Parts: sequence; structure tokens; C-alpha cells
Amino acid sequence: MASDARLVISTVIENCKGVFEGLKSLVDLGGGTGTVAKFIANAFPQINCTVLDLPHVVEGCEGSKNLIYVGGDMFKFIPLADVILPEQSILHDWSDDYCIKILKKCKEAIPSKENGGRLIIIDIVMDHNRDHNSYETQLFMDMLMMVGVNGKERSEQEWAKLFSNAGFSDYNIIPVLELRSVIEVYP
Ligand SMILES: C[S@@+](CC[C@H](N)C(=O)[O-])C[C@H]1O[C@@H](n2cnc3c(N)ncnc32)[C@H](O)[C@@H]1O
Repeated sequence: MASDARLVISTVIENCKGVFEGLKSLVDLGGGTGTVAKFIANAFPQINCTVLDLPHVVEGCEGSKNLIYVGGDMFKFIPLADVILPEQSILHDWSDDYCIKILKKCKEAIPSKENGGRLIIIDIVMDHNRDHNSYETQLFMDMLMMVGVNGKERSEQEWAKLFSNAGFSDYNIIPVLELRSVIEVYP
């Protein structure tokens, strides 16, 4: 994951810089040992980044001037921030019911849309109009999630339903890498 995350986040920062501009704080949800948060903290020194992951995952991880680690359970508590980043491959690990729980907790942690609150999700948006190889790979990922962790990949319609059921008002999808998209979700 940490290795794959380097490619994904460097591409996101290069092609979608705008989504991070103007932010003061961000929580990388399920951020592991901080691969993605370190890229963001270095590229945007004005953003205070927090990595939230399970205590045994972040134990011993060292922060920096604008990066801290918090050990905890995202189903119970998410630190407050302008933006929560359930970055790559967090939500596809979980069933719809669990995703709605996570999304509701995220919503409690961010300000209103007018005050800049939003989620930045990096995940797969299933799309059968893609070229054959990309769609086939998305289907393989869907199968892998189903067998491995009881999760799934989602189409735009499925994402929209999740966001609405969790109380979010709007979203915007930016295709960024062959299989993955950035999804901005507004409270
Ligand atoms: C698919 S991995 C993503 C890892 C990380 N994004 C990366 O690229 O290295 C999912 C992450 O969610 C974390 N996680 C699972 N359940 C969690 C929970 N209840 N609270 C916080 N983090 C959790 C796992 O420990 C793991 O680091």
C-alpha cells in the first residue's frame, strides 16, 4: 500500500494541486505510516496534517513540523480538520453500512461547505465506458475486495447513494489516474 500510495499521491498533487490549495488542516484517515501525508505536508507546508490510524500502526512513527500521528479508531473519533482524506483504498475496504458510519464520523469532524469543509476521497469509480483493460482491472479489484475484506468497488451512482445516505449534499469526481479518481464530497 505504502509503495502504491507514492505513485498515486504524487500524481494527485501534480494534476490536482487545486484541491489542496487554501487548506489549513487535513486528516489522513487510515493513513498507515504516513506515506501520503508526508507527500502532502512537504508539498503544502501551510497545511497541518494529521495521520489517524490504529494505535499499533502509528506507534513509533515520528511527525514533523506540520505532521502528527494520532492512534485511534475512526469509528469512534476523528480529529477536527478542514478536510478529511479517506485516501486511497479506505472506503473500498468496507461494506456500505460501515462506509456510512465512517462518512458520518467524517462529517462531524469538518466545518460546513461554506467554511471550506469537505472530504477528498481517492478511490476507484467503476466505469464500464473506460477502455477494456482499465475496466477489467477495476473488476479484478472489486473481486479482490469482496473476497478479501467484504468490501467493494463502486460506480458513480453507488458513491452518490452512500454520500447522500451519510448526509452529504454534493460531490465532484476528478479522474486522475487510470483506475482511480479524486472525489470531493461536500457537507
Ligand atoms: C488499505 S490500508 C491504507 C493504508 C495507507 N492509506 C497507505 O497507503 O499506506 C487501510 C488502513 O486503514 C487502517 N484502519 C483499519 N481500521 C481502522 C480503524 N478502525 N481506525 C483507523 N484506521 C483503521 C489500517 O490500519 C490501514 O492502515
